[in-house]
Amino acid sequence: MNEMDKNRQHPPVSILDTFLLHALHFLPLFARGLFLPKRWVYRLLAHSAWPRLARTLICGLRAKYGSDHLWVSLLRIKKPFRLALGRTLLVYDAESIRTILHTPAACQGRPERFAADPPVKRERVGLFAPGALVMSGGEQACPKRELNHRVLESERPIHHHGAAFLGLIRVETARILAQDARELKWDQFAELSLRVTLQVVLGEGRVDRGLFEHLERMIASASCVALPLRSRRFDAFYAALEQHLQRNPGPALIEGWAELFGSDSPPSWSAYQVTHWLFAMKDSLETHTARTLALLAAHPQTESEVHRELHQALGETSSQVGVLDAGAIASLRLLEGCVNEAIRLWTPIPLLVRRVVAPVELGGAMVPKDCDVVIDAGYNHRDPRRYGIAADRFSPKLWVNGGPMPPMDHFSNGERQCAGMRLGLFLIKAIVAELLLADRFALDKPHLDASEPLPLALDHYAIRFRRGAA
Ligand code: HEM
Repeated sequence: MNEMDKNRQHPPVSILDTFLLHALHFLPLFARGLFLPKRWVYRLLAHSAWPRLARTLICGLRAKYGSDHLWVSLLRIKKPFRLALGRTLLVYDAESIRTILHTPAACQGRPERFAADPPVKRERVGLFAPGALVMSGGEQACPKRELNHRVLESERPIHHHGAAFLGLIRVETARILAQDARELKWDQFAELSLRVTLQVVLGEGRVDRGLFEHLERMIASASCVALPLRSRRFDAFYAALEQHLQRNPGPALIEGWAELFGSDSPPSWSAYQVTHWLFAMKDSLETHTARTLALLAAHPQTESEVHRELHQALGETSSQVGVLDAGAIASLRLLEGCVNEAIRLWTPIPLLVRRVVAPVELGGAMVPKDCDVVIDAGYNHRDPRRYGIAADRFSPKLWVNGGPMPPMDHFSNGERQCAGMRLGLFLIKAIVAELLLADRFALDKPHLDASEPLPLALDHYAIRFRRGAA
């Protein structure tokens, strides 16, 4: 930057526009629930003009201020019942987003420039999974990142327990389908995901519902907007989890737990990390499985192509006749495109927040230390200025042919990209593949029309399929 440019500032948003941004965009996102989704808010958003107005507002603000970097004063809950405004840069520029997400994280003396542990994450996640990677920054995040990538096998296309995970998905899918021959509804997706998650993480047969109930109560206490608290269930939950960690689970993520840490005993944060896996996996499996199946049912041509892909994979599989093996699941690229589209269209983590650790240049202007930068991923993935009408269409083939144009950060990006991305995609694909091979599903609710732009908000809790429909 030359001398003159040093004084360049990104535009601040007026008080009225700040108010509108809160009312139409940030507060509804916050109200959906930070960690535990609130069904009634999803229902309300799906049946209101809010999401559309929010998108129009953001498009308008970018045009009005002539910038893809906007300074806003964002409302924060400082202490219980005390609100404060924090200086925050909203970043819509693809190059700046790349800089933020691809700047290496702190490790072995390398300083941190964008910390991924802003107070809202640290304080809230800290109430139920203190020390988990997702809420950690600086050097202390290094060993945690290593453990996550090692256990979740983020670099491998198929987890070494992939075949075992697929086997239990097959059993659990058949169990759910046997419950009702006419319909498939949200509660069944939730039940299936609970059973699969507990067994993938803790071991076959470990369907410890009590453990999950404790976890949900802990998350509910931490999510309370006005007065977030550590739940009274905290100690009971971790005592029960500890028992699982000490037993040999067979093929599961916690297999060989003690050996992972060599001669040292597992650090205190390791149990908290398992908690994050349980919570992230259950939530992502149920939501994205149901949404992917709904998108396929609403797009019969793509559904037929996915069926062709499945039958081709069945023909090539080396395992028993009529059954897909783990390699076949990994090879389903069109189905993977469908899952990625479900996640893009209804981005589950819509805001990626980073704290600026030292002054940094972004988009030709300096950003001072201690401000937050916010990547509005949910908006970006549906940005009509960037993707035109394709923003609201179901386009799984884009993912087969090299991926859509950036910024596409539904799993975040760079070193702090989701460590469970490959495993999550594998499990979701496996569940959808098993369902599609078992039956035909027609979408009764909510209404999705392939000839119309897809809605910006979807009430997935209302999802209901009629079974056996040709
Ligand atoms: C399949 C759907 C999933 C989506 C869309 C997703 C998305 C994300 C995103 C956007 C982040 C970055 C959050 C941020 O920077 O603020 C993240 C981080 C993370 N996710 Fe996922 N996730 C998914 C599933 C999973 C699963 C199943 C696991 C584990 C079993 C997992 C484990 C993690 C971990 C450990 C991090 C922290 C990575 C780091 O900070 O270096 N995720 N995920």
